[in-house]
Amino acid sequence: MKVCSILLAAGQGVRMHSKLPKVLHPILGKPMIWYALEAARKAAQTRPVVVVGHGADAVEKFVGEGAQFVLQEHRLGTGHAVQQAVTVLRDQCDLVLVTYGDMPLLRSTTLEKLIIHQLKHAGVFTMLTGIAEDPRGFGRIIRDNDGKVNAIIEEAQATPNQLDIRELNLGVYCFKASWLWDALEQIPLSSKGEYYLTDLVGIAVSQDKSVMALQIEDPVEAIGVNTRVHLAEVERVMRRRINHDWMLAGVSIIDPDTTYIEPDVIIGQDTTLFPNTYLRGKTEIGEDCEIGPNSMIVDTRIGNSCKVISSILEQTIIEDEVYIGPYGHLRKGAHLASRVHMGNFGEVKDSYLGYGTKMGHFSYIGNATIGANVNIGCGTITCNYDGKHKNPTEVGDDAFIGSDTMLVAPVKIGKGSRTGAGSVVTKDVPENTLVVGIPARIIRKMGDTNEV
Ligand code: UD1
Ligand code: CA
Repeated sequence: MKVCSILLAAGQGVRMHSKLPKVLHPILGKPMIWYALEAARKAAQTRPVVVVGHGADAVEKFVGEGAQFVLQEHRLGTGHAVQQAVTVLRDQCDLVLVTYGDMPLLRSTTLEKLIIHQLKHAGVFTMLTGIAEDPRGFGRIIRDNDGKVNAIIEEAQATPNQLDIRELNLGVYCFKASWLWDALEQIPLSSKGEYYLTDLVGIAVSQDKSVMALQIEDPVEAIGVNTRVHLAEVERVMRRRINHDWMLAGVSIIDPDTTYIEPDVIIGQDTTLFPNTYLRGKTEIGEDCEIGPNSMIVDTRIGNSCKVISSILEQTIIEDEVYIGPYGHLRKGAHLASRVHMGNFGEVKDSYLGYGTKMGHFSYIGNATIGANVNIGCGTITCNYDGKHKNPTEVGDDAFIGSDTMLVAPVKIGKGSRTGAGSVVTKDVPENTLVVGIPARIIRKMGDTNEV
């Protein structure tokens, strides 16, 4: 049994008022079509065929190898859109699933139920329907006295009585492939100059074939995005779903309404997320951490038992028992080894801070390799940029960098050395040596009693 899937995504999405094709508008960091593709892929177990039109290049570029594409040059309706896939899919499958690229909340499990329903019954296709008080302009399902589906009437064509019908066509179908390809050719041109996929109901009925409708349990799955208001609505539902799953998996979320977790994020057991926290991209967080409030973590790996308070971390690696914040900014390439303590107003970029190193207050560390158990005094700055190049700084284990030290790179501070408060270090400092002043001069070797 082979199931193929077709995703319709050629529409322009005029009501988004956007330069970006509608299906590329992001929901929790992923274009909305990503969710639809994931669901179709999981349910059908084959590579989806996406019908593109408006913004085709951008959509193809984003989806890439994940799907096959067919171009619908003129948007002549949903029936016409499905016809575009015939050349690619004819004789390729037993069942054909059709969904939209702008329905990100539809679950793969719902598509699986639709497939199973189609397999169990003799009809030529099954469609998803939903009962909803707000019809949202959806087509109405017309059933006969026995409850059999007779037609789908589009809102524009419906009589006042038909408008009162609350069973709606969600636009998601599972077809018997052998029937679909020929039936598509029989769709008549509508008065509006379009070919409606929904006319397949009438075609089946006229052939004495039955069409089935499967009502979904949760109508929220059927929300399609046509405006940015819908986009926000859908984002909220998606956010709650993801948060709900993490809570069930052992993560505490103090305020799910203000916690944003993107789909690829991984979080360990007994970690607590405080309000206003954004976990983005390929972020991985270990166990027993406390993250937030007011933090944004992007493409970052955090170990176990870390605390991150009111801080921003982007493309960084944080080992275990690290403390960051409040107001830390870790930029690309920052790597903090276990037990690093980074206090308020620190910035680290492209640098390694060794085990147990402390950087309590107001420092900038860039392009530096800092050893273990180093004390970085308040206000320390690596002057890493000379206007042309980023230059490296090295600080050995157990060094003590006095408050307000300027490390003018390239420069090396040896193991166990100290810099006095306010030093401007322009030359390498050997091991176990104290330097002070502007520019910094050697005062004595550690352990010596005499000044040099
Ligand atoms: C369609 C259904 C309607 C259903 C509703 C659910 C038809 C005739 N009507 O209505 O019964 O209640 O969906 O949302 O099918 N598309 C293309 N090419 C086209 C036209 C549309 O790819 O030529 C894509 C759109 O990008 C969109 C989807 O198909 O993702 C649905 O198109 P839309 O115009 O929104 O359909 P409706 O008229 O709202
Ligand atoms: Ca629509």
